[in-house]
Amino acid sequence: MREVAIVGAGMTRFGELWQLSLRDMFVEAASGALQDARADHVDSIYVGCMSGGQFVGQEHLGPLMADHLGMTGVAAIHVESACASGGIALRQAFMEVASGMSDLVLATGIEKMNDGADVTNVLATAADQELEVYYGVTFPGLYAMIARAHMQEYGTTEEDMAWVSVKNHRHGAKNDKAQFRREVTVEDVMSSSMVSEPLRLLHCSPVSDGAAAVLLCPLDMAKQYTDRPVKIVASGLATGSMALADRADPAFIDSVQVSGERAYKMAGLGPRDIQVAEVHDCFSIAEICCIEALGFVDRGKGGPAAREGFTALGGCIPVNTSGGLKSKGHPVGATGVAQAIEIFRQLRGEGGECQVENSRIGLAQNMGGSGASSVVHIFEGV
Ligand code: COA
Repeated sequence: MREVAIVGAGMTRFGELWQLSLRDMFVEAASGALQDARADHVDSIYVGCMSGGQFVGQEHLGPLMADHLGMTGVAAIHVESACASGGIALRQAFMEVASGMSDLVLATGIEKMNDGADVTNVLATAADQELEVYYGVTFPGLYAMIARAHMQEYGTTEEDMAWVSVKNHRHGAKNDKAQFRREVTVEDVMSSSMVSEPLRLLHCSPVSDGAAAVLLCPLDMAKQYTDRPVKIVASGLATGSMALADRADPAFIDSVQVSGERAYKMAGLGPRDIQVAEVHDCFSIAEICCIEALGFVDRGKGGPAAREGFTALGGCIPVNTSGGLKSKGHPVGATGVAQAIEIFRQLRGEGGECQVENSRIGLAQNMGGSGASSVVHIFEGV
């Protein structure tokens, strides 16, 4: 396998982008990545998107996006794994460059959720239709059950979860690409409207539009494109049971643990080596479960991590310095690539007010649905 680096990144702002279509967002992000790397061609393109068909009535995204980027003829393919579509597009691009098959590959993620679709029902297609959705379960409902299980098993409180939102909004307030650029207090979270007990509005990621793109090439070619490449040292992918009821412990997300272990093994690193991380906080409880499954804290100890500052800027492992899905926004198919961009920026010292000093090793974890798929990448600044 060849060593692989990210040499350029581009993304739209995340939020309600009524003035931009799916293809407009793609072109803005992809051309941003190409310009960042001073590149004028690619060998292939991966487009991570959960449901172009249901959100905006558009499938066949590979050729459409290549065409609108002015690259008709290039190899291009759509990748889908619910909210992990972007992270898995990155993995596919990584493997294509690592294998020696291609030199310049664009990994992208896109989603346009604000276009009149029935968002809750479209998102629910990522849960088990026969065992969950048929009975009326929604994604806030599934994560509410995970939260309840965590509270019962480990004593996690609603305030613990609120602190995750407070921390991520504090980070997101400093990110000019974020959907919500305002800080919130624990009181704000605890008094926001109930969505699915015990999860309130401010425990939830929002409905978002957006696109993100990174350009990959072999590490030994990277200096042609940038002075500050970031190496992808590992990629781990795992699946888990789709239905919560099939899991031995609904308060623990096995696929996150296994994808993390695979990535740590490939990198020859462990959780203590990670200096900055983006994890999949689609609901505040999800961040708590993910930092446990990735080994940043012991099992059952994730509740107080945000409140005690362990995962805040200046803490042991700053988590979601971009604002996370909660504050930056969660255009589902774009999220995994946007997470990689935040780590890319951090490891190049471009984190701005949220820079983690002297960070050299970073991790991004992106999850599909309630955790039936999870992909972890580990990066190193060079
Ligand atoms: N966090 C903070 N503020 C939010 C928000 C969120 N998650 N979602 C909406 N808002 C704000 C809006 O900006 C709006 O503010 P305004 O009145 O100042 O303009 C207000 O709340 C109402 O917005 P609206 O769009 O009517 O909210 P909603 O009730 O239709 O939707 C949720 C709120 C939480 C139900 C929706 O965001 C949601 O479904 N989130 C989860 C998405 C999801 O499941 N993703 C996949 C994860 S696996």
